[in-house]
Amino acid sequence: MVNNVVIRENIEQHMSELKDWLNETAYVELEEMGDFFTRRINDYEEHMAIWSRAYQRFAQVLPSNVKSILDLGCGTGLELDEIWKKNPNIEVAGVDLCQSMLDKLREKHIDKKIKVICEDYFQYDFGTEKWDAVISFESFHHFLPKQKKVLYDKIYQSLKKGGLFILGDYIACCEEEERLLQEIYFQKRKKSGIPEDRFVHFDIPFTLEHELSVMREAGFDKITHVESMDGATIIVVEK
Ligand SMILES: C[S@@+](CC[C@H](N)C(=O)[O-])C[C@H]1O[C@@H](n2cnc3c(N)ncnc32)[C@H](O)[C@@H]1O
Repeated sequence: MVNNVVIRENIEQHMSELKDWLNETAYVELEEMGDFFTRRINDYEEHMAIWSRAYQRFAQVLPSNVKSILDLGCGTGLELDEIWKKNPNIEVAGVDLCQSMLDKLREKHIDKKIKVICEDYFQYDFGTEKWDAVISFESFHHFLPKQKKVLYDKIYQSLKKGGLFILGDYIACCEEEERLLQEIYFQKRKKSGIPEDRFVHFDIPFTLEHELSVMREAGFDKITHVESMDGATIIVVEK
């Protein structure tokens, strides 16, 4: 199943457009993660509309018997909008380090069962065998392999047996894309003198093989679903 997944229809064209964009933005300095999203809060949802099909699919792959979920990097809750349409009673804990994103989520869903937590998910305690499902959409592609391993270990521990981790994220179409973006990420961090412990907004996606290998290292050896659309890939793994 994993072998048949097409991450990008036209890899050559995608890489050429990516390189053009990297050249055009070569002078642009990195922004700190929370500041990046706060500055763009008014246009954020419109910008993310390119993934409306992926948000709908993401909600569809979440089984309807799931009662409680932890959403990591929930932002304004675009994935939750779709999940609540399907299951309005689901209980959600949403973690995000950006208060302005969480304020918008709250405004949209005052009637829903949600606990919003303004915290860095590397620091937040996910608990042990607590959740039916842990989800994350378009947030983890900002982190390096060793950081993702920490997250996947925490997610594995926090899921009930048989629980699901559902990731919707930017996946690199080839090793060249993964390598190129990481090179530029390190160059930009160095140029701006950003300390190692600061989170910045820059995309450093892994290839599908790399992403799944980190999940396996954390204990997720049952991959139940992978599909890709409009540049977003949905991966479902079971504990
Ligand atoms: C592109 S947005 C995605 C938001 C939402 N999941 C969606 O698809 O609309 C990425 C979100 O991840 C959050 N984020 C990034 N790093 C984080 C961290 N270490 N801890 C908590 N939230 C983080 C950002 O603040 C931002 O709201």
